[in-house]
Amino acid sequence: MNNSDIFSKEMYETGFVCDFNLQDGLSEKAISTKRYLSQMKGMFSDEEAYEKALKEEDSVIYEFYEMGFPETDAHLGMGTSITYPGKIGDEYYFTKGHFHTILETAEVYYGLSGEGYMLLENPEGDWKFLPIRPGVAVYVPPRYAHRTINTGSVPLITFFTYRADAGHDYGTIETKGYRTILVEERGIPTFKANPKWQEE
Ligand SMILES: [Fe+2]
Repeated sequence: MNNSDIFSKEMYETGFVCDFNLQDGLSEKAISTKRYLSQMKGMFSDEEAYEKALKEEDSVIYEFYEMGFPETDAHLGMGTSITYPGKIGDEYYFTKGHFHTILETAEVYYGLSGEGYMLLENPEGDWKFLPIRPGVAVYVPPRYAHRTINTGSVPLITFFTYRADAGHDYGTIETKGYRTILVEERGIPTFKANPKWQEE
């Protein structure tokens, strides 16, 4: 069964439909935002491997659907995120990650398929990797930047929801990165200090 079997045209038009499929993360009506490898310059630790991969193909690293509810504190933003499997050098594909512009807002991610980790880090330097897989909910507390990392061989698909006016601050992570990275060592996901991270 797909969404158009259970929702009427009117339901879509009045905005009461969360149009995404919780099996495959796809939406019939919403258009996804795609992030290509070329848009993630400087974010992977191995620059040489990055340039080599980019020359071969400007792959989609991840994409996400936002349902487009009003961005006020009365509403919840929600959607699905698909992070593809792959590595640049030894480092697994990840989403750029972001702080919320309103830092004191939380978020919930729920694993639909695939496996990986949610990397959390707050401005004070506390960080954790939380495993995410089908049926597992991850709570992102207020003040924590969050990034999804796919350590498996199939797309990592999650559902997310947050206060709709929270906003996304990508810039801090793009310029500074995270303190830790997740790489494959002897076939095992292993976290390491990010060689490119520098205290301001
Ligand atoms: Fe978020």
